[in-house]
Amino acid sequence: MHLSHVCSNKTCFLLSLALCGLLVLLIPSLQAPQRQTDLPRPAGATRRHAALVRPPQTRSPGSPSRDSSLDLRDVFIAVKTTRKYHKSRLQLLSQTWVSKAKEQIFRRVCTDDKCTFIFTDGEDKELRQKAGLNIINTNCSAAHTRQALCCKMSVEYDKFIESQKKWFCHVDDDNYVILPSLLELLASYSHSQDVYLGRPSLDHPIEASERVKSDGSVSVKFWFATGGAGFCISRGLALKMSPWASLGNFITTAEKIRLPDDCTVGYIIEALLEVPLTHTGLFHSHLENLQRLPTDGLLQQVTLSYGGFENRRNVVSVGGAFSLAEDPTRFKTVHCLLYPDTEWCPDKTHP
Ligand SMILES: *[C@@H]1O[C@H](CO)[C@@H](O)[C@H](O)[C@H]1NC(C)=O
Repeated sequence: MHLSHVCSNKTCFLLSLALCGLLVLLIPSLQAPQRQTDLPRPAGATRRHAALVRPPQTRSPGSPSRDSSLDLRDVFIAVKTTRKYHKSRLQLLSQTWVSKAKEQIFRRVCTDDKCTFIFTDGEDKELRQKAGLNIINTNCSAAHTRQALCCKMSVEYDKFIESQKKWFCHVDDDNYVILPSLLELLASYSHSQDVYLGRPSLDHPIEASERVKSDGSVSVKFWFATGGAGFCISRGLALKMSPWASLGNFITTAEKIRLPDDCTVGYIIEALLEVPLTHTGLFHSHLENLQRLPTDGLLQQVTLSYGGFENRRNVVSVGGAFSLAEDPTRFKTVHCLLYPDTEWCPDKTHP
């Protein structure tokens, strides 16, 4: 029914126009309130993503791109590990951010209960039972070879597609994921658009022979997000990757271009699908100088890491709950800054 039909005179018509205008203005405030408060905020932290992230390149003007209802259940976090690190690395993760991810999920009524999946290459009943982790045995080789790593990425991809979740995020077993920052970052995009977020491992695009679309006589340049710092892909984009990534095709693609797993992801997205990587400085790997990260912006980062056996002193510079001897990776200290109420964190009033 048209309002103009109800009214016969001009004044009434103008009045109805004004009413329509008012309705249009009211629509945004009638929509669902933000659920940003679902996750505990880092104590005293202000959000400063805007300054650190390049504006999303995939966003077209005027499109609905903010997802204020996003919560942790919408994010599939794949942690890549290997049998020999189950004790040393996974236990630390299950004590810190992974336990928090689980808690956030279980606190609500939910049907699919988990969001963090550990992808490994060996059965470990003890770890499964003790830590209550959601472990997926990929049956891939434990060797640190291109084939073995690509095999794991291929299983991660398939499990994500199966999960129906909005975002796929891959991290390594030496990453700490700051969950509130991750949610904040992802919520500023739409999962139905093409979004590939991460830290480039080089300051220039990589060049490789094009062996998928052509015979390898031409070369192709593309950026890729370094896997060691973690990266995220929207569901919309992940679905488009399917011809080159699903059901073992990822391994075939990687073999064709002879590049590691994270480069292959970049190749499929940038070179084949022509979707640009959104560069962000919020993801961090052990290849960076982590000590140089400003302490006051630490809790606003999305991932952190620590130096391995080769470089034990390459850790984020943060003081607080634990000494360097007690917490050599600094993950426990970061965790207690984010979640001071955790039972094993020292009492704040008696530092
Ligand atoms: C690995 O092998 C086991 C035993 O055969 C099987 O149950 C499991 O589904 C396999 N995992 C994957 C990811 O295929």
